[in-house]
Amino acid sequence: ELTDITTLLLSRIRDVADYPEPGVMFKDITPLLADPVAFTALTDAFAEVAERTGATKVVGLEARGFILGAPVAVRAGLGFVPVRKAGKLPGATLAQAYDLEYGSAEIEVHAEDLTADDRVLIVDDVLATGGTAEASIQLIHRAGAEVAGVAVLMELGFLEGRPRLEAALRGAPLEAL
Ligand code: PRP
Repeated sequence: ELTDITTLLLSRIRDVADYPEPGVMFKDITPLLADPVAFTALTDAFAEVAERTGATKVVGLEARGFILGAPVAVRAGLGFVPVRKAGKLPGATLAQAYDLEYGSAEIEVHAEDLTADDRVLIVDDVLATGGTAEASIQLIHRAGAEVAGVAVLMELGFLEGRPRLEAALRGAPLEAL
């Protein structure tokens, strides 16, 4: 049974067929962002996860994780740290490569933005294969910080991201709203 909030959020996600390529059903969150009631409800739900898991920082994953994660950090009174695609951060970074279906990708974080005292909530819009989230968890651990959890708006269960993340999470929760 869906809650009122889940029904509201689902109603503001637009399915776009054959984008960005044939056979893919793209989940477009821009209608949700444009609706202040839905965007606020989502931010509050993420902030509740941040508080429940004892997070000290929010990490947002480029690019939609920036839009969703930054207001969560402000709402929960936490700092925000961007995990970016390689080559975008100017300072000393940690980098993590991961495999895509065809080829590979690399993400980076500013090493000095995370410390051994931090517990990090990772925020993103979609968990698909889990490759991006898994690499982000590895980055946070390599920075010496703990992972409080991963919070996403949507989990595409058929892509089996959740079992992929299990070992990396070390018991921390994966919350799909
Ligand atoms: C999408 C999505 C997640 C990631 C999930 O980002 O926003 O970050 O892919 O996929 P995965 O679980 O298979 O790793 P995308 O790479 O499209 O980046 P963008 O938001 O910068 O366009």
